[in-house]
Amino acid sequence: MRDEKIKNIKICVIHGPNLNMLGHRDKTQYGTLTLDKLNKKIRSNAEELGLDISIYQFNSEEKIIKMLHRQRKISDGIIINPAAFTHYSYAIRDAIELISIPVVEVHLSNIYEREEFRRISVTKDVCLEQFYGKKEESYLEALQFLHDHLKK
Ligand code: DQA
Repeated sequence: MRDEKIKNIKICVIHGPNLNMLGHRDKTQYGTLTLDKLNKKIRSNAEELGLDISIYQFNSEEKIIKMLHRQRKISDGIIINPAAFTHYSYAIRDAIELISIPVVEVHLSNIYEREEFRRISVTKDVCLEQFYGKKEESYLEALQFLHDHLKK
Protein backbone atom coordinates (compact mmCIF):
# COMPACT_ATOMS: atom_id res chain seq x y z
CA MET A 1 0.00 0.00 0.00
CA ARG A 2 1.27 3.41 -0.93
CA ASP A 3 2.09 5.70 1.96
CA GLU A 4 0.27 8.90 0.98
CA LYS A 5 2.34 11.01 3.39
CA ILE A 6 5.55 10.40 1.46
CA LYS A 7 4.04 10.42 -2.02
CA ASN A 8 5.79 13.58 -3.07
CA ILE A 9 9.29 12.74 -1.96
CA LYS A 10 11.45 13.32 -5.02
CA ILE A 11 14.52 11.22 -5.70
CA CYS A 12 16.95 11.79 -8.52
CA VAL A 13 19.18 8.95 -9.73
CA ILE A 14 22.38 9.89 -11.56
CA HIS A 15 24.37 7.24 -13.41
CA GLY A 16 27.94 8.15 -14.32
CA PRO A 17 30.14 7.37 -17.32
CA ASN A 18 29.95 4.09 -19.21
CA LEU A 19 26.85 2.94 -17.37
CA ASN A 20 24.92 3.48 -20.62
CA MET A 21 26.93 0.46 -21.79
CA LEU A 22 25.59 -1.91 -19.15
CA GLY A 23 24.78 -5.25 -20.73
CA HIS A 24 28.00 -4.94 -22.77
CA ARG A 25 30.33 -4.48 -19.81
CA ASP A 26 31.87 -7.17 -17.59
CA LYS A 27 28.81 -9.13 -16.45
CA THR A 28 30.56 -10.71 -13.48
CA GLN A 29 31.09 -7.22 -12.01
CA TYR A 30 28.07 -5.32 -13.30
CA GLY A 31 25.41 -7.95 -13.93
CA THR A 32 23.46 -8.66 -17.10
CA LEU A 33 20.91 -5.85 -17.10
CA THR A 34 21.02 -3.08 -19.67
CA LEU A 35 20.64 0.46 -18.33
CA ASP A 36 17.03 0.50 -19.59
CA LYS A 37 16.19 -2.64 -17.66
CA LEU A 38 17.98 -1.40 -14.55
CA ASN A 39 16.03 1.87 -14.77
CA LYS A 40 12.75 -0.04 -15.10
CA LYS A 41 13.56 -1.90 -11.86
CA ILE A 42 14.46 1.35 -10.13
CA ARG A 43 11.22 2.98 -11.32
CA SER A 44 8.98 0.11 -10.24
CA ASN A 45 10.68 -0.06 -6.85
CA ALA A 46 10.33 3.69 -6.39
CA GLU A 47 6.67 3.48 -7.32
CA GLU A 48 6.10 0.75 -4.71
CA LEU A 49 7.75 2.99 -2.12
CA GLY A 50 5.63 5.94 -3.26
CA LEU A 51 8.61 7.99 -4.42
CA ASP A 52 8.73 10.33 -7.42
CA ILE A 53 11.78 9.41 -9.44
CA SER A 54 13.86 11.01 -12.17
CA ILE A 55 16.82 9.21 -13.73
CA TYR A 56 19.78 10.57 -15.73
CA GLN A 57 22.98 9.15 -17.18
CA PHE A 58 25.97 11.29 -18.15
CA ASN A 59 29.38 10.45 -19.53
CA SER A 60 30.88 13.81 -18.62
CA GLU A 61 31.88 15.26 -15.28
CA GLU A 62 30.52 18.70 -16.17
CA LYS A 63 27.02 17.37 -16.83
CA ILE A 64 26.99 15.42 -13.57
CA ILE A 65 28.04 18.52 -11.64
CA LYS A 66 25.43 20.70 -13.35
CA MET A 67 22.73 18.15 -12.57
CA LEU A 68 23.78 18.00 -8.90
CA HIS A 69 23.56 21.80 -8.70
CA ARG A 70 20.16 21.77 -10.37
CA GLN A 71 18.71 18.98 -8.24
CA ARG A 72 19.50 20.72 -4.97
CA LYS A 73 16.44 22.88 -5.59
CA ILE A 74 14.24 20.14 -7.07
CA SER A 75 14.85 16.83 -5.31
CA ASP A 76 14.69 15.64 -1.70
CA GLY A 77 17.49 13.14 -2.18
CA ILE A 78 19.98 11.87 -4.74
CA ILE A 79 21.32 8.43 -5.58
CA ILE A 80 24.54 8.64 -7.53
CA ASN A 81 26.80 6.07 -9.12
CA PRO A 82 29.73 8.31 -10.11
CA ALA A 83 31.33 5.24 -11.81
CA ALA A 84 35.05 5.86 -12.53
CA PHE A 85 34.74 9.46 -11.24
CA THR A 86 34.26 7.93 -7.78
CA HIS A 87 37.96 7.28 -7.59
CA TYR A 88 39.35 10.70 -8.48
CA SER A 89 36.80 13.48 -9.03
CA TYR A 90 37.22 16.07 -6.31
CA ALA A 91 34.97 18.29 -8.42
CA ILE A 92 32.06 15.87 -8.03
CA ARG A 93 32.93 15.46 -4.36
CA ASP A 94 32.73 19.25 -3.89
CA ALA A 95 29.40 19.40 -5.75
CA ILE A 96 27.94 16.69 -3.50
CA GLU A 97 29.29 18.47 -0.43
CA LEU A 98 27.78 21.83 -1.31
CA ILE A 99 24.23 20.64 -1.92
CA SER A 100 22.21 20.40 1.23
CA ILE A 101 20.08 17.36 0.32
CA PRO A 102 21.12 13.78 1.24
CA VAL A 103 23.19 11.96 -1.37
CA VAL A 104 23.71 8.19 -1.39
CA GLU A 105 26.53 6.56 -3.37
CA VAL A 106 25.99 3.24 -5.13
CA HIS A 107 28.08 0.76 -7.07
CA LEU A 108 27.00 -2.37 -8.86
CA SER A 109 30.30 -4.10 -8.15
CA ASN A 110 32.25 -4.53 -4.94
CA ILE A 111 34.82 -1.77 -5.44
CA TYR A 112 36.72 -2.95 -2.33
CA GLU A 113 37.55 -6.31 -3.86
CA ARG A 114 38.77 -5.14 -7.23
CA GLU A 115 41.84 -3.27 -8.53
CA GLU A 116 43.69 -1.05 -6.05
CA PHE A 117 42.57 2.21 -7.73
CA ARG A 118 38.88 1.31 -7.28
CA ARG A 119 39.21 0.83 -3.52
CA ILE A 120 39.37 4.58 -2.97
CA SER A 121 36.18 6.57 -3.15
CA VAL A 122 36.78 10.31 -2.92
CA THR A 123 33.02 10.90 -2.86
CA LYS A 124 32.03 8.48 -0.10
CA ASP A 125 32.75 10.79 2.86
CA VAL A 126 30.39 13.50 1.63
CA CYS A 127 27.59 10.99 1.01
CA LEU A 128 25.19 9.90 3.70
CA GLU A 129 25.63 6.21 2.91
CA GLN A 130 27.24 3.90 0.39
CA PHE A 131 25.79 0.69 -1.11
CA TYR A 132 27.93 -1.56 -3.28
CA GLY A 133 28.58 -5.04 -4.53
CA LYS A 134 25.03 -6.25 -5.06
CA LYS A 135 24.57 -5.37 -8.73
CA GLU A 136 21.13 -3.76 -9.29
CA GLU A 137 20.18 -4.54 -5.70
CA SER A 138 22.65 -1.82 -4.59
CA TYR A 139 20.36 0.79 -6.17
CA LEU A 140 17.26 -0.75 -4.58
CA GLU A 141 18.92 -0.73 -1.17
CA ALA A 142 19.78 2.94 -1.67
CA LEU A 143 16.14 3.72 -2.57
CA GLN A 144 14.88 1.96 0.55
CA PHE A 145 17.48 3.75 2.67
CA LEU A 146 16.53 7.21 1.34
CA HIS A 147 12.84 6.42 1.69
CA ASP A 148 13.33 5.48 5.37
CA HIS A 149 15.64 8.44 6.00
CA LEU A 150 13.33 11.03 4.43
CA LYS A 151 10.17 9.61 5.98
CA LYS A 152 11.50 10.33 9.48
C1 DQA B 1 31.17 1.20 -10.74
C2 DQA B 1 32.58 0.84 -10.27
C3 DQA B 1 33.61 1.78 -10.87
O1 DQA B 1 34.92 1.42 -10.43
C4 DQA B 1 33.58 1.67 -12.39
O2 DQA B 1 34.48 2.59 -12.95
C5 DQA B 1 32.22 1.80 -12.96
C6 DQA B 1 31.07 1.25 -12.24
C7 DQA B 1 30.12 0.19 -10.25
O3 DQA B 1 28.95 0.48 -10.34
O4 DQA B 1 30.50 -0.91 -9.78
O5 DQA B 1 32.05 2.31 -14.08
O6 DQA B 1 30.83 2.46 -10.19
